Amino acid sequence: MNPIHTLQPSGRQEELRYDFYPHHLFVEAVVSLFVLLAVVSISFLWQVPLEDMADPSDTSYVPRPEWYFLFLFQLLKYFEGSLAVVGIVIVPTIVLAALVALPFLDKGDATGLRKRPKVVAAGILGVFSVVVLTGLALVEDVRHAPAKMDLPPITEMQVAEGKRLFETFCLQCHQMNGKGGFMAGDLSQIGARRSRANIEQIILEPTTVSQTSMMSVIPLSDDERHAVSAYLSQKKK
Ligand code: HEC
Repeated sequence: MNPIHTLQPSGRQEELRYDFYPHHLFVEAVVSLFVLLAVVSISFLWQVPLEDMADPSDTSYVPRPEWYFLFLFQLLKYFEGSLAVVGIVIVPTIVLAALVALPFLDKGDATGLRKRPKVVAAGILGVFSVVVLTGLALVEDVRHAPAKMDLPPITEMQVAEGKRLFETFCLQCHQMNGKGGFMAGDLSQIGARRSRANIEQIILEPTTVSQTSMMSVIPLSDDERHAVSAYLSQKKK
């Protein structure tokens, strides 16, 4: 059993030895157990709703990273095209390798933060980069978010008008209750999947669904668009 880690200056190691195995490992295991219990209890107490069932025929789904991965995705934005491998593989590998190598690179037995300026500086820099990248990602996200729309309340007349407009302008490509074209997805239950504001946004700017959207921009007036979105938002199961 090798003492990887001693708390006492050499010479007195024998009496006050604190071995990694099993002492430190035991403490780590106990702490991990408590963290796990905490996470499990939180997931029971605050049920997080799942998204809809995955639909392989839906080409318009935009997967979004969770907030704790935003920094990584932000990093990717700086490495475009063939450089992407740097952001995806090289930088994360260097960081992980540095973490694995840390005990071998930084062997001193001083425990005070001030006594290990290099690693502490590197650690602060790391945390700082993650915070800054996450912040940048959030700011860009807000800028690209669809503008909030004030939608008039839905009336029956509007829904009927929306249905008529839909059949004129949209049915050629989209399916609705078994009728329509096959260029694009079935919208018979679109109201269950997309908010009304989201549907408005798609009509205004089909590229919000996907960058390579095949959907044409249909010149509807504001009222006509509100009517179509009213009609579609009622299309639920
Ligand atoms: C030229 C064919 C075409 C026309 C016309 C068209 N769309 Fe689309 N639409 C598409 C395609 C293709 C997609 C799939 C996503 C993509 O690639 O843009 C789509 C996606 C959508 C989506 C998202 C679907 C989903 O499953 O989430 C909505 C909502 C939508 N269209 C509404 C409309 C409305 C409302 C109209 C009429 C005003 C309309 N579309 C007219 C081709 C069309």
